[in-house]
Amino acid sequence: MLVMAMSIGKSQSYDEELRVRKIREGTVIDHITAGSALTVLRILGISGKEGNVISIVMNVPSKKLGKKDIVKIEGRELNSKEVAMIALIAPRATINIIRNYKVVHKERVRLPPEIRDIIRCINPNCITNSEREPVQPLFKVLSDNPLKLRCQYCSIILTQEDVERQLG
Ligand code: CTP
Ligand code: ZN
Repeated sequence: MLVMAMSIGKSQSYDEELRVRKIREGTVIDHITAGSALTVLRILGISGKEGNVISIVMNVPSKKLGKKDIVKIEGRELNSKEVAMIALIAPRATINIIRNYKVVHKERVRLPPEIRDIIRCINPNCITNSEREPVQPLFKVLSDNPLKLRCQYCSIILTQEDVERQLG
């Protein structure tokens, strides 16, 4: 085992296969910002109680990102709408749909033009934070990467850091 561990690094695919094998059917979310896999699952509302096999790999070497996380969800095909919100914390993530061991669809995650849930406005005086008659938050996505969201009510700009503080 130690010998294998020492010899990996030469072949990245071999390296990855040692950690988590290929799946037969389901969804692979790849190129997740290193360290964010658990937040991705939380955003997707996946707790593990659903019963399907879920594999999480964190901080593995990546040519494009230096380090990345990967989440593999077996027996379930997530669509681009379902995964869109993970772009909030993993803007370079790709969603791969796997059927019979083959990648049949690959797509980069993309935020919708507007975000209505998940995020709260950081301005305590914003109408969306009022205790008496709170209004549902609504943000316009100005930019994906680096993340910039503008509150439609008070116009304050939320950055990646603001969003990570809430979701991470
Ligand atoms: N994958 C998997 N099971 C399969 C097929 C692919 O778990 N049956 C995983 C791979 O390990 C990889 C991701 O799905 O993490 C995408 O697979 P693939 O497109 O073959 O890899 P790359 O070409 O490296 O992807 P990219 O170009 O997006 O980096
Ligand atoms: Zn606001």
